[in-house]
Amino acid sequence: MPSSVYNYVVAFGAAFGGLLFGYEIGVVGQVLVMDSTFGQYFGIAYSDPANTKDDGWSRYDNYSDVTGNVTMTFLLGCLAGAAIVSWMADFLGRKRSILVGGILFVIGVTMQVAAPSIAVLYTGRVIGGLGIGILSMAVPLFIAETAPTHLRGRMVTVQQLMITIGILIASIINAIIIKTSPETNLRWRLALGMQLIPGVGVVVCNVFMPYSPRWLANRNRDSEAIKILARLRGVSIEDATVQAEFREIKESIEMERQIGTGSWAELLKPGIRNRVVFAVMLQFFQQWTGINFILYYLPNLIVLMGFTHDQADIPFAIANNFVNMVGTFPGMYLVERSGRRALLLWGAISMAFFQLFTCLMVGLSQSHGSGFSWLAVFSIFGFTLSFASTWGPIVWVYQSEIFPLRVRAKGTGVGTMSNWANNAIIAKVSPKLTDAIDYKVYALFGGLALAGGIFVKFFIPETKNLALEELDTLFGAEPLVHETNKTSADVELVKEKA
Ligand code: BGC
Repeated sequence: MPSSVYNYVVAFGAAFGGLLFGYEIGVVGQVLVMDSTFGQYFGIAYSDPANTKDDGWSRYDNYSDVTGNVTMTFLLGCLAGAAIVSWMADFLGRKRSILVGGILFVIGVTMQVAAPSIAVLYTGRVIGGLGIGILSMAVPLFIAETAPTHLRGRMVTVQQLMITIGILIASIINAIIIKTSPETNLRWRLALGMQLIPGVGVVVCNVFMPYSPRWLANRNRDSEAIKILARLRGVSIEDATVQAEFREIKESIEMERQIGTGSWAELLKPGIRNRVVFAVMLQFFQQWTGINFILYYLPNLIVLMGFTHDQADIPFAIANNFVNMVGTFPGMYLVERSGRRALLLWGAISMAFFQLFTCLMVGLSQSHGSGFSWLAVFSIFGFTLSFASTWGPIVWVYQSEIFPLRVRAKGTGVGTMSNWANNAIIAKVSPKLTDAIDYKVYALFGGLALAGGIFVKFFIPETKNLALEELDTLFGAEPLVHETNKTSADVELVKEKA
C-alpha cells in the first residue's frame, strides 16, 4: 500500500493535540508550588518570616485540598471528555471532534489564566480537561483511520511523541519563567498561558485536515472518501491499490451493518466485549506502571532519595522528561517490526525491573548515602525509558486499531476513560501511599507492571499488519467475508504467531 508525505503531515497535524495533553501534565505540578504568587493569590500560602528553613513561605491548612482540587477538576473533565467523544466522534466525525476538543481547551486555559477567583480557576480546569479528554481519544482514532495498514502503528505513535515533547517543553519553559520573570502573578499566568500557543495550533491545523475516509464511507459520502484516501496514499483515484482499499472499507461497512447497529449494547457482544476488556485493562496497567506517579511527584521523590529541592527539582525533571521524549523513538521504530505484543511484554519486564531496583536503591540510600541516591535516579530514568518505548505509545496504538468501525468510537472512548480514571486515582492516592509505605511504593508499581506483562502474555494477540477490517477474525467476532488481498490464512498465521 503506498503512503505519502501528506499522510505524515496529516498525522503530525492531528498529533498536535498530544502536545497539549503533555504540556498540561508537565506544567501543573510546577504552578502549584509557586507559593509566593499562585499560592498567595488563591489564599493557600502566606508569607512567614519565621520560616527560615525554606524560602519564607508557609501553607494554609486548605493547601492540599486546593491543589488536589486543581488536579482533580482537570482529570474529571478529561474523563467526561472521553465519555462525550464516544458519541461525538460518530456524530460529528473525528476531524470535527478534534476541533471541538481544541476550542474547549483554549476556552478553559483562557479562563484559568484570567481567573479572578478559585471558582473560575476550577471551571477553567474542567473545561480544559473536557478538551483534552476529547483530543486524547479522537487524535489516535483519526490517525489510525487515515494511515496505511503497514504504517498505522508508527503513525499513531506520533501522538505519544507529541505528548512527551509537550511534557519536556513545559518543564523547560517553567524553568525559564522561574529564573527570569519577576515574582508576580505574571509567573503562573505565563506558565499556564503558554498552552494557548499549541491550543490555537490545534484549531488552526484542523482547518487543513481532511475528514477520516472511513468515517465518510460510513456516512455514504463515498466520492469524498475515495478522493481523500487517494490523496493520503499519494496516488490518483483510479489507482488500483486505492480502489481495492476503498472497496475493502466499503464491503466491511456493508457487512458490519448486517451484523450490528453500532449501539452501546453491542460492546457487550462476544468478539467485541473481549476487545473492550483489553482496551480497559491495557489502559489500567499503563497507568499503574506508575509513570504519572513519577512525572507528577518527581520533585518530592528526589527529596526522599536524599537530594534537596533546590539542587535537584528542575534539572532532574528536565532530564527525566528528555529521556521520556527520546525513548519514544525506539518504540516508533519497533512497533512495525517487533509488533505490539513483544514491546508490551518486554516493556513490562523492564519497567518492573527498574521499579524494583529503584526501591532497593532508595532504601539503601537512606542508610548508606548518596552513591545509592544517584543509582536510584538513574534507575528512574531507566524506568521512564522503558515506558516511553513500549507501554506509552503501544497502548494507544492497540486501542485505536482493535475495534470494528461501527463501535470504534465507543470502544476507544471506554478505553480512554479507563486511562483518565486510573490517572485520577493515582494522582490522588500516590502521595498517601508514599506517606504510608515510603519507598516501597516503587515495589508496588513494579509488581503491577509485572502483572500487566502477565496479562499481555495470556490474552493480548498481535495486530501488526492486519487491516482494520481484518481484525474481527482475530478477536473471534462474526467474521466479515469479503475479497481482500490478504487471505484468512494470513490472519491465522498472525494469530498463531501471537
Ligand atoms: C499516558 C499518560 C502519560 C504519558 C507520559 C501517555 O501514554 O497515557 O498518562 O502521562 O504517556 O509520557
